[in-house]
Amino acid sequence: MSRDFDLVVFGATGFTGKLVAEYISRSAQKLRWAIAGRNQAKLEALGLGVPVLVADALDAAAVAGIARRTKVICTTAGPYAKYGSEIVAACAEHGTHYCDLTGELQWMRRMIDAHDERAKQTGARIVHTCGFDSIPSDLGTWAVQQEFIKAYGKPATSVTALFGESSGALSGGTVASGIQTAVEAGADRSIRQVLANPYALDPDPYADRPPSPDEGGIGWDSRLKMFTIPFVMAGINTRVVRRAHALSGFPWGKDFVYREVMSTPGSPRGLVMATAMTAGLAGLAFAMKRPRLRDALAKRAPQPGEGPTPEQREKGHWKTRFVAEAGNHRLLYVAADRHGDPGYASTAKMLGESALSLALDPLTAAGGCTTPSIAMGQFLLDRLRRAGLTFEVAG
Ligand SMILES: NC(=O)c1ccc[n+]([C@@H]2O[C@H](COP(=O)([O-])OP(=O)(O)OC[C@H]3O[C@@H](n4cnc5c(N)ncnc54)[C@H](OP(=O)(O)O)[C@@H]3O)[C@@H](O)[C@H]2O)c1
Repeated sequence: MSRDFDLVVFGATGFTGKLVAEYISRSAQKLRWAIAGRNQAKLEALGLGVPVLVADALDAAAVAGIARRTKVICTTAGPYAKYGSEIVAACAEHGTHYCDLTGELQWMRRMIDAHDERAKQTGARIVHTCGFDSIPSDLGTWAVQQEFIKAYGKPATSVTALFGESSGALSGGTVASGIQTAVEAGADRSIRQVLANPYALDPDPYADRPPSPDEGGIGWDSRLKMFTIPFVMAGINTRVVRRAHALSGFPWGKDFVYREVMSTPGSPRGLVMATAMTAGLAGLAFAMKRPRLRDALAKRAPQPGEGPTPEQREKGHWKTRFVAEAGNHRLLYVAADRHGDPGYASTAKMLGESALSLALDPLTAAGGCTTPSIAMGQFLLDRLRRAGLTFEVAG
């Protein structure tokens, strides 16, 4: 491709966009890159010393103008269902690789239906969910399966991801994106059906597949001796893992089962935590379905542009355990970042490295709406390990 830029970071003035642009600025050598957004003065005030491109995300022609000039667009302008569609359309049309941080399942389904075919024709790799949602789940499951095959000569028939110790907080854009999904779901039954379908992102979401209900209530994992409860992001991450498996032709078997839960310690204190967190999650789900409660919550939550402090981000951390099994064989695997909160410091590394991988690595994956593990696989794993994240066999 002969284009002006290797990479454009779109939405660089937002809370997460700034962190990603700063990450790229620190990490990238010999990269021709630019920042983009709707407000020239705000973009210039970032002081990154790279070209500034101005476009409103809703202006299809302006966005297409950027897509034609760069090899990759990495966008943090969300809620994506509000601001993301023209960018995906332009990237699919002009063969421009794309990555984002969306967790808006209904919007991803719309993008797949509208642009997957065109992206396959132009070779554009459209890669959603390149942050804490869903890289640990998607790349972690792919990596644990590689290790399982190495150890036992065959893939695991089930993988359970247990999201454990972590510390962090939310930004305004994340809150706005959650509300966007709740509003859309409240207004449209077909969207509620998409959100409830465990195979919502599969090429054929209604194909005959093993039942994979989302977790409900408090459970006990006898292998790890920990309590398990529903994980708030499982409704997105599990669908991404299943899409990756389907796109690669079901190499782990058509009956492969992926589960995702949150874990708390197997102690009386762990049980109290599990009970409180399950009740909190149920309360949140209840409130999000009721417009007045939702509005009240939104007013008290961080607003667009706001998010966790530098200290919260630096002191933050996360750890995900994977239990992979087939018959009597079992493998324990851990993905973690000890130096960054999941949603922002660590997500900036994950999205930044995804963007750099799309721009610089000799990837061979075909175009289309894929997932991080399908588009970037081992290249991304190596990059994230170099960036300080852990992906390793733990027993
Ligand atoms: N998956 C994950 O792990 C993860 C983690 C973090 C964030 N996220 C997602 O990332 C997204 C951003 O979150 P955030 O907190 O960083 O949001 P934010 O601070 O509100 O930033 C939003 C960005 O979008 C830009 N924008 C809004 N409307 C636009 C338009 N019409 N044209 C061009 N640019 C426009 C804003 O530009 P202005 O500055 O000009 O207003 C800003 O740069 C959210 O969807 C959130 O859910 C996901």
